[in-house]
Amino acid sequence: MNFSANQITIRKPDDLHLHLRDGDMLANVIAHTTRIFSRAIVMPNLNPPITTLEQAIEYRKRIMQLIPQGISFTPLMTAYLTDDASVEVLEQGFDRGIFHAVKLYPVNVTTNSSYGVSDLKNIDSVLEMMERVGMPLLIHGEVNDPSVDIYDREAVFIDRHLSPLLTRFPGIKIVLEHITTDYAVSFVESSQQYKLASTITPHHLHINRNAMFLGGLRSDFYCLPVAKREKHRIALRKAATSGKKCFFLGTDSAPHPRDSKEASCACAGIFNAPFALESYAEVFYEENALDKLEAFASENGALFYGLPLNNEKITLIRKNVVVPYSIDICSDLGNNEKPLVPFHAGETLRWSVLD
Ligand code: NCD
Ligand code: ZN
Repeated sequence: MNFSANQITIRKPDDLHLHLRDGDMLANVIAHTTRIFSRAIVMPNLNPPITTLEQAIEYRKRIMQLIPQGISFTPLMTAYLTDDASVEVLEQGFDRGIFHAVKLYPVNVTTNSSYGVSDLKNIDSVLEMMERVGMPLLIHGEVNDPSVDIYDREAVFIDRHLSPLLTRFPGIKIVLEHITTDYAVSFVESSQQYKLASTITPHHLHINRNAMFLGGLRSDFYCLPVAKREKHRIALRKAATSGKKCFFLGTDSAPHPRDSKEASCACAGIFNAPFALESYAEVFYEENALDKLEAFASENGALFYGLPLNNEKITLIRKNVVVPYSIDICSDLGNNEKPLVPFHAGETLRWSVLD
């Protein structure tokens, strides 16, 4: 790493939590990620979800075909865990380098999670295998219990499910994805006798729960887990900029067609891919921690996944960039001609990527 007051050069980063979608949406969003990132852990919550080797191989091919010419980018595929998941299929997928991880969505907690796991007891044999072979388990850590307040669902998941799971499978590699609370930060930090890490999104570093209600109901800031109180945002910023190996970059960029965001029942998800690195850089700049950006963005995640560190470099300069209000789409999103709205729309960020 090389850095001065106006310029910073780091290894190229990886996005360890990304929704690339499929079809026209994939075609519209992929270049925003490949502009910056070397690799990405690609979420499997398509409809139908990615559960078989064939589906993952075909999906990876569709992604590869859309990578802009001359750009090197590796999509790392994941499997979507269901109640009746096959141990053999997942293990074979991992052995053959097709599945890099397994994603656990508790049933009905978020977008396309209706095929998710209804009871962790149903997947004991899968968890045993994953612990044995070192296959990472990526967890959307929220309970779906309607009696639990939506702002408490992450903390309750940790107490009810994650903590007992770690006791039962102490050797399993786990990423508690997109953490949103000081409770999760403390839990991860104080559980380092296990192989437990967390991704942190740019939006949870920038917004608290007021953003969804600023001057009216703002679905562009609605994602899951929902942003929490200010004290949680502060704890997340401290964790991300700490340099600790258990925290790394995962954008959770989750584009939805405009009609699905501007709806009476709007979809959860923030499309942050277009300015994701600039967004993280803003946080590290504000926290006076640009020297920790490389660890968070380009090293800690790769080390956790056992991937080689990227050798290519990327440079950010201290130059303002204005985020547009909308990102034009190049192909039709199914009768939906409206552009996509990026995170930070209309704002000015202070670090730009040098082309
Ligand atoms: C994600 C999506 O849209 O696929 N939405 C979100 O709000 N983060 C799913 C997820 O990661 O929860
Ligand atoms: Zn996600």
